[in-house]
Amino acid sequence: MDPRLNLDDWEHEALEALDPMVAGYYVGGSRDEETLRGNRRAWSRWWLRHRVLTDVSHTDPGLELLGTRLSSPILAAPTAFHGLAHPGAEAETARGIAAAGGAMCLSTLSNTAVEEVVAAAAPAPVLFQLYVYRDRGATEAIVARARAAGCRALVVTVDAAVLGTRERDVRSGFHLPPTLSLPNAAPGAGSVPAATGASGLAAYVSEQLDPTLSWDDLGWLLQLTDLPVYAKGVVRGDDAARAASLGVAGVVVSNHGGRQLDGSIPTAFALPEVVEATDGRCPVWVDGGIRRGTDVVKALALGAQAVLIGRPVLWGLSVAGAGGVQAICSSLTAELAEAMALCGAPALDRLTPDLVRLAEPGL
Ligand SMILES: Cc1cc2nc3c(=O)[nH]c(=O)nc-3n(C[C@H](O)[C@H](O)[C@H](O)COP(=O)(O)O)c2cc1C
Repeated sequence: MDPRLNLDDWEHEALEALDPMVAGYYVGGSRDEETLRGNRRAWSRWWLRHRVLTDVSHTDPGLELLGTRLSSPILAAPTAFHGLAHPGAEAETARGIAAAGGAMCLSTLSNTAVEEVVAAAAPAPVLFQLYVYRDRGATEAIVARARAAGCRALVVTVDAAVLGTRERDVRSGFHLPPTLSLPNAAPGAGSVPAATGASGLAAYVSEQLDPTLSWDDLGWLLQLTDLPVYAKGVVRGDDAARAASLGVAGVVVSNHGGRQLDGSIPTAFALPEVVEATDGRCPVWVDGGIRRGTDVVKALALGAQAVLIGRPVLWGLSVAGAGGVQAICSSLTAELAEAMALCGAPALDRLTPDLVRLAEPGL
């Protein structure tokens, strides 16, 4: 029997093996980590109202997304610095995602060139997560390069104009070793060097990324590229509606895995408002604390088209490289298929709002 029965088993194994500075960077959240914990708890506040006596002999969690048939609606969220987890870095992740029949969103702050990641992932689709640099010319060049490399979409992160303080990283003096570079970031922006008594990432973000980012810039980005653009980091209906009016391809309900504004609403509670406000004008995706197939069922029943998982991919990569990434994706997809069958929902379009109900206070 594989001793790893669930995503938490992978997490425990990874945290034991990783260097403490890296483990703290991957696992942590900002400030008191209330949102980090809240994300997970919030999914369990929704209860399932399963249907009975439906034929679930064939349960299919697959779907068409980004012009490709995917094995499940679970995508790999953009996470920085895979070189800290495995020498094969993001190319290794891409191979694991492809083997699982999934799709991957590559961070601007990755340690592998986008062209290499797209080649390693093929035929699995790669989306490119964009951070907007103060240097707009460099940002335009990053977008053009991602498109030329064959990325299928841009995912612009809108919740990180300034970096939320992750106290674990301040304490550890988080930095990248000199062997790891950022080949997709703005040229000349440098790396994430050691800083005494501070997080090297915090220094990088405040020097390089643009804190003036505003709605006009989202309009600018939409003009700049013919790639579909998703806005990641939205938790309010009014913001989601505005993004939809500007013409985004989709909205990602996210609080950056509890790493930006601590106290930000857990995504399982923000999702219904965003779904209502976008009103079918664009798809809604969600991430944050999704660790069980039942969490995915709840997200889709609440109106999400797809979900993203961040940390679990890093646990798989740290423990077993591409095979580990494939294993965590496949195990969550298997949990999803089981949960769909037990809910009486043999296909994703049967995951409807009547399946979920928010717990009464105290339950
Ligand atoms: C180690 C780490 C690095 C991350 N790096 C990025 C990033 O570069 N860009 C981004 O938009 N989000 C980043 N995120 C946030 C993820 O995309 C995602 O929103 C979050 O991890 C989802 O929550 P989960 O880890 O609970 O699944 C990062 C998250 C983690 C844990």
